Amino acid sequence: MRQTIDVIRQWIAHQWTVLKPWMLRQWQRFVPWFLRQWSLFKAWVNRMWHLWTDRDNRWLSLPCTVAALLVLLVSVKSCQGIVYNFTPECKILKLGYPIDEASALAAALNHEQVDSLIARGEHDTIAYPIINERYYIAGNFDRYLAFHKADTTGAPLGDIVAAVNVGIDRDPQESAVPCDTTMDRLMLVNRYHYLDEHHKPRKLKEFKKIFRYEEQQAAPVVVEAFEAMQQDCKKQTGAQLMVNSAYRSYKQQIGTYKHNPKGYAARAGFSEHQTGFAIDVTSLQHPMRWPFDTSKEGIWMREHCHEYGFILRYPKDRGHIMNYSYEPWHLRYVGKAAARQMHDEGITFDEYYAYYIEPHAKTQRH
Ligand code: DAL
Ligand code: ZN
Repeated sequence: MRQTIDVIRQWIAHQWTVLKPWMLRQWQRFVPWFLRQWSLFKAWVNRMWHLWTDRDNRWLSLPCTVAALLVLLVSVKSCQGIVYNFTPECKILKLGYPIDEASALAAALNHEQVDSLIARGEHDTIAYPIINERYYIAGNFDRYLAFHKADTTGAPLGDIVAAVNVGIDRDPQESAVPCDTTMDRLMLVNRYHYLDEHHKPRKLKEFKKIFRYEEQQAAPVVVEAFEAMQQDCKKQTGAQLMVNSAYRSYKQQIGTYKHNPKGYAARAGFSEHQTGFAIDVTSLQHPMRWPFDTSKEGIWMREHCHEYGFILRYPKDRGHIMNYSYEPWHLRYVGKAAARQMHDEGITFDEYYAYYIEPHAKTQRH
């Protein structure tokens, strides 16, 4: 709190040092201008008064007043025109944008974004539609335009927004940041957010023998949610879900990464198995990952896991956003509310995090 107040105080002090000379300059210009206008106005009122009091010229004062008012009106209007020329809306309009797009863009963008839009020197046809995209994040505007320009696949705008939001346009090696572990079950671990090698979940709990092949542990809340889910799955499909893999330490992940085909395993530090909130699930009937995908229990799990607080972390057709292939077995525990929201909105955890959580997270990439 104290730090925030200090930062605000410093910011105000800095703004004041810039603002003060500017205000002084404006004031020094304004005073003589105002005095000149005032004496002109006084002279004009004087003249009108003389005309009015002079019986012979009284008829002249009325048209003179009307004419003067007209001149005033025209000057105000032309001043407005001149001022409008300097507005962001007018500058954008000059690039060839229709008026409704120009005013919407002027309202949505900050000064730097308007300047960089103008620097492009042409009407970018996605500039307006992109600001109306459902998951548009204001700070990413320039990156959306750049990513769309570089895209050769003709990806829909929703995908452009999603890809930039999760950071696909950045080099993970250069832009990866430490994971904000205070987010607990909502901590994000992916190619851009990593855990250090010493990170270990605060508490781990064993899965019962009947639910796993080898000893497996996860955060207690995950073990409980899995047990509830497998119970309902058994009731509804007759099949027994099994945990293949759950918490993996940094060291274990080094081995997993070595022995797994590329695209299915994360580098040590970049795997959410290290959080204790991820599990790989198959079934007794279909212990191999791929038949599990199309089995009735695999389908049931995909459709119902959100009811227990899980999400399918690497869904089909989102590989271009995640840089990981489809994994029908990998569940991530995020809690019921978040899982339901991601399920209902049809978004991955990376997208959810970028849009709903990252603006409030301690570690930000933007
Ligand atoms: N299979 C996922 C990507 C992991 O290794 O964490
Ligand atoms: Zn996994």
